[in-house]
Amino acid sequence: MAALFALAASAVAQEDKARWVSNIFDPLSTPSHKIHEVAFLAIGICAGIFVIVSGLLAYAIIKFKKKEGDILEPPQIYGSTQIELAWTVIPILIVFVLILVTARTVGEIQNRKPAENALKIKVIGHQWWWEVHYEDQKIITANEIHIPVGVETWFTLESADVVHSFWVPQLAGKMDVIPNRRNYLWMDPQQTGLYPGNCAEYCGTQHANMLIRVYVDTKEDFEKWLASQKAAPVPSSDPLVEAGRKVFYENSCMSCHKIDGTIAEGTFGPDLTHLMSRKSLASGMIENNPKNLWQWVRDPQKIKNGALMPDMALTNEEVDQVVAFLSTLK
Ligand code: CUA
Repeated sequence: MAALFALAASAVAQEDKARWVSNIFDPLSTPSHKIHEVAFLAIGICAGIFVIVSGLLAYAIIKFKKKEGDILEPPQIYGSTQIELAWTVIPILIVFVLILVTARTVGEIQNRKPAENALKIKVIGHQWWWEVHYEDQKIITANEIHIPVGVETWFTLESADVVHSFWVPQLAGKMDVIPNRRNYLWMDPQQTGLYPGNCAEYCGTQHANMLIRVYVDTKEDFEKWLASQKAAPVPSSDPLVEAGRKVFYENSCMSCHKIDGTIAEGTFGPDLTHLMSRKSLASGMIENNPKNLWQWVRDPQKIKNGALMPDMALTNEEVDQVVAFLSTLK
């Protein structure tokens, strides 16, 4: 049954393949544990109803089968106050139990206030990628979110365009990401690892390829990651890199992308300051390796049809140069 609910993505990095399945029955954070309990209660009650109803049905079919010599209709009974009361009152009680338990869980998760040491992250949904801001740390990244194990992380969710939904099943429930509104979500992961998620609200052509990767790191690894994201870019004097930088500046790449310490300050597309520290491209669709990066720069539409990055019609030589430049953004 778990497989039915599993999220699978087809074109993810080889190294992650074995782990790119997210199981809602394997919660690893307080909110997802609470949701898991309600889910089991609802499934248990529904299974009970199924067994009772199908049992009675099977009993009636076997017991009251037409027998040889039956020529008369069975006695016709119209209405029974007791039975009708029973099948009205019992379902109402069941629905009330489910409403109360669900409301209590929703309240427990949503009424919580952030812990003092909580990490705060702002996530902005875009067609079709996620912008990620660590505001206190002054870090901007995209699609891949690093958080420390055992610490509460609070997400503020905003949208730049249409309604999206942020869902990392093993760590928290779904939360809609709505234009002109701020929603909140928290998680306190109990195990390190990579937790895949996805946009869970249809938001256009590439909705299915708006993947999320949450990397839950040890505290040391998380600090190291923070430090690496704050580090200034290392300048390169390689002529190929210089040529690539020039192509990047002269085409409209820099109107959409930001690279710290350069004149590229666009904010429409993902921040590329530390592009090479990310494992995937195109919001988790493909592994970030030189070949895929080349194909992506050459024509993003071939990989992610409808993506807002157009085919810049660069020559192969220019693509080589841009890729050399991007490859220095560690
Ligand atoms: Cu964003 Cu679906």
